Amino acid sequence: MRIVRSQIEADNVISLKLRAAGPEDLPGWTPGAHIDLFLPSGLTRQYSLCGDPDDRRHYQIAILREPNGRGGSMEAHDRLQVGQSVAIAGPRNAFELRPAKQYLFVAGGIGITPILAMVRHAESAGFAWKLIYGGRTRYSLAFTGELLPLGEDKITIVPEDVKGRIDIAAVHRAAEHGDEVYACGPAGMLDALEARFTASGRRGQLHIERFSAKPPAPVAGDGVIRVFLSRKGVHVDVPPDMTVLAALRAAGHDLPSSCEQGICGTCETRVLDGVPDHRDSLLTEAERASNSCMMPCVSRAKSPTLTLDV
Ligand code: FES
Repeated sequence: MRIVRSQIEADNVISLKLRAAGPEDLPGWTPGAHIDLFLPSGLTRQYSLCGDPDDRRHYQIAILREPNGRGGSMEAHDRLQVGQSVAIAGPRNAFELRPAKQYLFVAGGIGITPILAMVRHAESAGFAWKLIYGGRTRYSLAFTGELLPLGEDKITIVPEDVKGRIDIAAVHRAAEHGDEVYACGPAGMLDALEARFTASGRRGQLHIERFSAKPPAPVAGDGVIRVFLSRKGVHVDVPPDMTVLAALRAAGHDLPSSCEQGICGTCETRVLDGVPDHRDSLLTEAERASNSCMMPCVSRAKSPTLTLDV
C-alpha cells in the first residue's frame, strides 16, 4: 500500500492513510479490526483500523509515539513518509463488536483507535452508546473533533491533568444495567476494569483489547507436552522452555503468527482434544473455558497431550 496522508491528530499521535496499490478493492473489515504493518526495518506492529469501513480503497491507522516502547512507533513517526510504499497483512478482528442493546465504550489514550470505529458504527446503526475517553491532557486526545459531533451528550472526556484518571468504579456502575463494555487503553486501566468486573461476577460484560501482553503467568511446573497435529497425522513434543509455536516450527510445521505475545489472534488454532493453559491476553473467559481454541505463540497445556486442528 502507499501512504497518501500523514496527519497530526494530537500530541505525539499521527494518523496514516494508506491507499491500495492495485486496482482491486481492499478486503472489508469491521470495527475492532487491526492490520499488521511491516516497517522498513523489518519490525511488524499491529494497528487498529480507525477509518471508514465503506472506503474500500483506503485504510487508516493512528500511531502514538512511544519513546520508551520497543521501537516500532518511533520508526513509524520518524521514517514513514507520504508517497512511501508499505506492506501490510490483514485485516483481522480479535475485538469484534457483538450485537447488544447498549454499549459503554472506554478508551484510554491511543486506545481510542478501535473504539472510534465502534462509536461510528453504533451511532450510524442507531444503537444506544456512551463513551468515556481519558488521556494525560486534552491535547493528547486524538479524534475528539470527529467524536463530539457523533453525540456530545454521550461522551465524557477525562483529561487526567484536570479531572484525574477514569473512575473505574463509576464505569462499573454505569454499566450495571447490562451495557456491553468495550475498552482499550493502557494496561493499568484494563487491569483495573478486569479486576472490578471479575470481582462482581460480571466479567462477561467486559471486552478488552490490549496493546501489549500481560506479564507472563508463573511457569513453574511446566513439563513436556505432546502435541498431535490431527490433519498431518504427526506429533511434536514441546519442551518446557519452548512455546508450542516454536516447537512446531522447529519440527517443520509452520503456523501463521504476528505479535507472538498473545495479543493479536493471528496464530489462533482450534483445539480438538486436551486442556490448553491459556496465557494470552485475548480470549474471553467463556472462550478459555470452552477449551476449543488457543494461541500457541504463548499458551501451553494443562493436560499432558493436546490435539490441534493443524
Ligand atoms: Fe499474535 Fe499469537 S501471534 S496471538
